Amino acid sequence: MKVVIIGGWGTIGQAVANELKSRHEVIIVGHSKGDYTCDITSIDSLDKLFQKLKPFDAVVSATGKIHFEPFSKMTPDKYMIGLKDKLMGQVNIVLTGQKYINDKGSFTLTSGILSEDPIVTGTSGSMVNAALNGFVIGAAIELERGIRINAVSPTVITESLKQYGSYFRGYESAPASRVALAYSKSVDGKQTGQIYRVG
Ligand SMILES: NC(=O)c1ccc[n+]([C@@H]2O[C@H](COP(=O)([O-])OP(=O)(O)OC[C@H]3O[C@@H](n4cnc5c(N)ncnc54)[C@H](OP(=O)(O)O)[C@@H]3O)[C@@H](O)[C@H]2O)c1
Repeated sequence: MKVVIIGGWGTIGQAVANELKSRHEVIIVGHSKGDYTCDITSIDSLDKLFQKLKPFDAVVSATGKIHFEPFSKMTPDKYMIGLKDKLMGQVNIVLTGQKYINDKGSFTLTSGILSEDPIVTGTSGSMVNAALNGFVIGAAIELERGIRINAVSPTVITESLKQYGSYFRGYESAPASRVALAYSKSVDGKQTGQIYRVG
């Protein structure tokens, strides 16, 4: 299969690429670097990307920014960061990509543990991740031509602990290589409308 990984140079994206590359053609897409670049907040940018890459069989999204701050200091603008980037950016990938992906292709998005297991500073993450999970179950019953969609909802990644570890005290981390197996289940399997929680 030809698999496009958006965010493919990131902590999770690299592990997904390593998991898939022995049996698939993997195309790495980033914001500033990669085989190709795009901006998931722009439909125009995604449209140009998919036109260049078509035909392809699977799109993995391992990207999306959220603003972390104590709730008492959050503002509407700070919530808009996660809504525009992690939430609508990934919705944009599916909205645009459905026009170009092959029959029976798949989309795999990334949400995260905060949808059900919150941390202090994480209200935006909890909101956005829950919305992504909702989007996936809704879109799964409407995508046409046998196209599938799933989300992977990981706990904090072991490789990210030096960056985020102090926010996730008491959480068990998962190595990116183990989280990558859930993306493989989505890409290589036949399930749709699933949220793969990796704790
Ligand atoms: N790391 C964790 O512990 C963890 C746990 C649970 C969930 N998650 C979620 O998993 C996803 C990936 O996390 P990560 O830690 O692997 O991220 P990361 O290491 O920061 O990598 C992010 C990737 O996304 C690309 N990117 C950033 N903005 C983009 C844009 N506007 N358009 C296209 N590509 C863009 C980056 O490209 P450039 O490098 O070129 O800028 C990079 O390849 C996020 O949604 C995060 O919330 C992460």
